[in-house]
Amino acid sequence: MTTNTALNASLGAATPATIALRGITKVFATDEMETHALRGIDLDIYTGDFVSICGPSGCGKSTLLSLLGLLDMPTSGSYQIEGHEVSGLSLSEAAYIRNEKIGFIFQSFNLIDELTVFDNIALPLRYRRTSLPKAEIEARVQACLQKVDMTHRAGHRPNQLSGGQQQRIAIARALVGNPALLLVDEPTGNLDSKNGDAVMEMLQQLNNDGTTLCMVTHDPRYADMASRKLHLLDGRILDADGSPLQQHVTLKQVAP
Ligand SMILES: Nc1ncnc2c1ncn2[C@@H]1O[C@H](COP(=O)(O)OP(=O)(O)O)[C@@H](O)[C@H]1O
Ligand SMILES: [Mg+2]
Repeated sequence: MTTNTALNASLGAATPATIALRGITKVFATDEMETHALRGIDLDIYTGDFVSICGPSGCGKSTLLSLLGLLDMPTSGSYQIEGHEVSGLSLSEAAYIRNEKIGFIFQSFNLIDELTVFDNIALPLRYRRTSLPKAEIEARVQACLQKVDMTHRAGHRPNQLSGGQQQRIAIARALVGNPALLLVDEPTGNLDSKNGDAVMEMLQQLNNDGTTLCMVTHDPRYADMASRKLHLLDGRILDADGSPLQQHVTLKQVAP
């Protein structure tokens, strides 16, 4: 995937990126102070990519993920999903695009204990602006249950399952809407190493099958599973050698 991405870039990005960030900044301002959480992020994510994001606490990882997921809007810069500018959307438009295009997997599985496993997975489909027929919801949920090997637990409640199983249900819920991008924040943070490894193997398999992933992780072993590793420091993406990445300059140099 990295090779494809590099090739696309050197050919003048013949294939449009699924996700394109240009000059993204995020400033959190209070009466007393301004925090520059992101200081100019340029990032392309292509279909089928597996991007990992590492960096010390406070460097802007969660801020970047929440902007990518349209949970928040940038202070400045451009953000395009499949060629559509989304940086200036209203909250309700953003919610609509988020529901259609983006799946989330969090450290704390965020399942609803009052609902069955089946209904947890179906939830994103039931929030769609255009409602789907019941049979299609059923078929999609079953397909996702199969992908995470949890068909036998469809009628259980999340609190009757182990942590590893709950994270697999959360993965199924993230997949049910066929998202263009899966955003993953410390997916193994609440799991022991055996269950963590199993969840990571599952994410790797999903990526092999074509799902586009962007994952924040502290674990170098898991970051290494990605096809592209990004290091954030103080709101900027660092190059592999540790210097701030000058993506536009690099592209101009390699392009004819
Ligand atoms: N809602 C907010 N209000 C004010 N400051 C914030 C807010 N969210 C994050 N920050 C600040 O922005 C910086 C980046 O935070 P964050 O993205 O959470 O870092 P990370 O996830 O890498 O630990 C930090 O200095 C943090 O204190
Ligand atoms: Mg964070």
